[in-house]
Amino acid sequence: MTTEDEPLRLDGRVAIITGAARGIGDATARAFALCGATVALCDRLETETFHGYEDTVSHEDGTPRTLRRVLDVRDGEAVAGFVDEVAAACGRVDILVNNAGGTFAAPLLGTSESAEERLVAENFSQVTRLVRLVVPHMPHGGAIINVTSVEAHQAAPGFAIYAAMKAAVENLTKSLALELAESGIRVNAIAPDALSSAGERETREQFLVHEMPFDPVHMPPLGFFGSPDDAAWATVFLASDAARFITGTTLHVDGGTHAAGGWRRRN
Ligand SMILES: NC(=O)c1ccc[n+]([C@@H]2O[C@H](COP(=O)([O-])OP(=O)(O)OC[C@H]3O[C@@H](n4cnc5c(N)ncnc54)[C@H](O)[C@@H]3O)[C@@H](O)[C@H]2O)c1
Repeated sequence: MTTEDEPLRLDGRVAIITGAARGIGDATARAFALCGATVALCDRLETETFHGYEDTVSHEDGTPRTLRRVLDVRDGEAVAGFVDEVAAACGRVDILVNNAGGTFAAPLLGTSESAEERLVAENFSQVTRLVRLVVPHMPHGGAIINVTSVEAHQAAPGFAIYAAMKAAVENLTKSLALELAESGIRVNAIAPDALSSAGERETREQFLVHEMPFDPVHMPPLGFFGSPDDAAWATVFLASDAARFITGTTLHVDGGTHAAGGWRRRN
């Protein structure tokens, strides 16, 4: 690989991105498409931007540049059908971005067992299911990027199950990096924080409504909030040949929150 190879390009690669209707997933889909990838997207929401991605057939060999399906990633049958459809249309998968996820604010003692099951399915089981379904379609190797959270690395009062599942995905990332190394599949994570998205704003608002006794960080050390594009370009890097020697690691896209630990900006 040389600089002339433009190692950040993703031409000819087929990428599945979950949770692509808004926020980080939407920004990632756009960044991947800009770098030349065919993107296969899913989300349970049908936002205006998601509608903008009508299926298009623009590659010379007729494979779709975009494939977009509305589904809940917790629905195993729907996800299996989606992966089969992508494999049938594109012949293989090169990149999987496990981005879909989310939570609501509630202390553990106020979280019922069924709510807990939904959070585990939303933030963990659907990730392992997608890996099982997609890896057989990566015969030439590939890259998996799991979107975790700064909360995978610290306490998260009000989000205990979500944070525990993100920590589980962080650990899963390392095990999979070793298990899939021989297949030429690299597995990494990005751990975002403070990226202004609808999901991030909703979560912060819930903290106020529920009058939680702890606050998440107000301002990252860098002194400004990031945008979903910051996570998108970190994901492009990890998916690309520029990261060919990187596996089993986490890139913190958080303006310095993880590094800060308990330190906080005064202003
Ligand atoms: N924005 C941040 O600062 C931040 C911080 C920590 C972690 N994250 C993680 O980044 C990822 C994206 O977050 P975001 O900020 O863009 O949030 P967001 O809520 O704006 O976007 C998430 C997208 O995923 C979709 N989604 C969620 N659950 C789904 C399901 N079960 N089935 C199908 N689609 C589903 C949603 O419909 C939405 O379109 C999430 O995994 C989140 O936990 C983000």
